[in-house]
Amino acid sequence: MVYKGFREWLQLVENDGGVKHISGVDWNLEMGGIAEIVAREGKKPMPALLFDDIPGYPRGFRTLCGLMNSPRSLAMALDIPLEGSMELMPLLQRWRAKMRSHHSVAPKVVSSGPVQENVLSGEHIDVTIFPSPKVHELDGGRYIGTACAIIQKDPDTGWVNLGVYRSMVIDRNRVALHILEGQDGRMIMDKYFERKQAMPVAIAIGVDPALWAAALVKLPWGTSEFDYAGGIKGEPIEVIKGPYTGLPLPAHAEIIIEGECIPGELIDEGPFGEWQGYYANLGLKPVPEPVVRVKTVLHRNNPILTCATPAAPPKDYSLPVCFVRSGGVWDTLEAARVPGVKGVWNHDEGGSWYFTTVSIQQMYAGHSKQAGLIASQATGAFGRYTVVVDEDIDPSDLSQVIWAVSTRSIPERSLQILPRCPSNSADPTISPEEKAKVKVPPKPLFGSRCVIDACRPFEWRKEFYPVTRISPEYREQLMKKFEGLFKELL
Ligand SMILES: Cc1cc2nc3c(=O)[nH]c(=O)nc-3n(C[C@H](O)[C@H](O)[C@H](O)COP(=O)(O)O)c2cc1C
Repeated sequence: MVYKGFREWLQLVENDGGVKHISGVDWNLEMGGIAEIVAREGKKPMPALLFDDIPGYPRGFRTLCGLMNSPRSLAMALDIPLEGSMELMPLLQRWRAKMRSHHSVAPKVVSSGPVQENVLSGEHIDVTIFPSPKVHELDGGRYIGTACAIIQKDPDTGWVNLGVYRSMVIDRNRVALHILEGQDGRMIMDKYFERKQAMPVAIAIGVDPALWAAALVKLPWGTSEFDYAGGIKGEPIEVIKGPYTGLPLPAHAEIIIEGECIPGELIDEGPFGEWQGYYANLGLKPVPEPVVRVKTVLHRNNPILTCATPAAPPKDYSLPVCFVRSGGVWDTLEAARVPGVKGVWNHDEGGSWYFTTVSIQQMYAGHSKQAGLIASQATGAFGRYTVVVDEDIDPSDLSQVIWAVSTRSIPERSLQILPRCPSNSADPTISPEEKAKVKVPPKPLFGSRCVIDACRPFEWRKEFYPVTRISPEYREQLMKKFEGLFKELL
């Protein structure tokens, strides 16, 4: 076992020099603004930012931005060996190697856990005791749930799903939930509402980072993120039975809000600056969304509210989402028996969903097209461009990817447009008018996707024009001969 729960992981990162402690920053725009500036303009790798002494809140009621946003803190969270290169592709390859022997490990029910250090119910319920940030100037509220995991149970099978869905504070005992069309959590919610049943739900914050990683990636319908995260860690996630909902709740979480959503009970949510870098729901208009009527609040002493700060790229959670989702696309390619995959990257510039690059070693005619078409559908209700490149291109390096697209693809035959693919109301290319029409009653939204085959043409790939670049051997010679110069310049 590497760590138990969020706090032990944070201690590992702290010991590794990866946490920056910051005092006296306000929840109102300051925290979000600082996280955004550091993520975009700061030194790399970004440390986790731990805010304390937040004006208006007791000392110890903290927030944390930049969760797993450095390769070492991510590797510690996902139990990837720290030995070896921390560059994106080698790190992803180590993660893939580990996940090839991944087995589900069911959660373990325990009688109590640190999250029960404080349990608020009845008239004591108050979700405003936590320093939830207002992230951007145009946001419509304060968000307690961004780096969170929403826990729901499928009413038919009892399967427990966790997904990261944002949650806005309404008042002491109400929180609004935003779950997009096509999400597992949305399909579960629709089942309750169609049957006119209240939906039990829990919002867990400051969860085990492996569990958060599982909650933000698309897993097969019916697979519990608890089991998947247990498999990542090689030991069960400990859960307690929710006092109101009976749902399994992570025993080591920092904060958990339990309650229920009543069919037809909606409240204005947002606007909220989102992951693609826009207010892309209905622009700056709030949208009616389901409300969680809060029944219990559980929290550790001196709780840490984990935050993710969506913004135009790069943002303070780019690394974990791009990394884990790239692994997810790679999984799908392997499950579909596509051989020769050398790398996958879901670029932050596409919100870690809209722009995916796959590198392959071409093995047969049509291989690149096959890889592109399958990868293009591996992103659930999201996705726009999938580029397939040869193995000499690092898929995480946009400069190399654009070079390959510009020099190896032929517009009239390398592009394939796929109409009527899944989309959703987060898509910034669909106008607010069109979205408003489909919201009530909900109607389907379609999007199109494009696969770009930027590999050397298969038939004459071996004779393709040689690349103008010094050979690795000559590079090595130069590096040795001019060591001092390169020390200064590189
Ligand atoms: C920081 C962050 C915030 C997110 N917010 C939302 C959201 O508000 N609504 C939503 O539907 N998906 C949101 N997502 C994406 C989902 O978590 C993701 O699609 C996940 O796969 C959903 O779980 P599911 O596949 O079990 O439905 C967010 C992801 C991250 C990392």
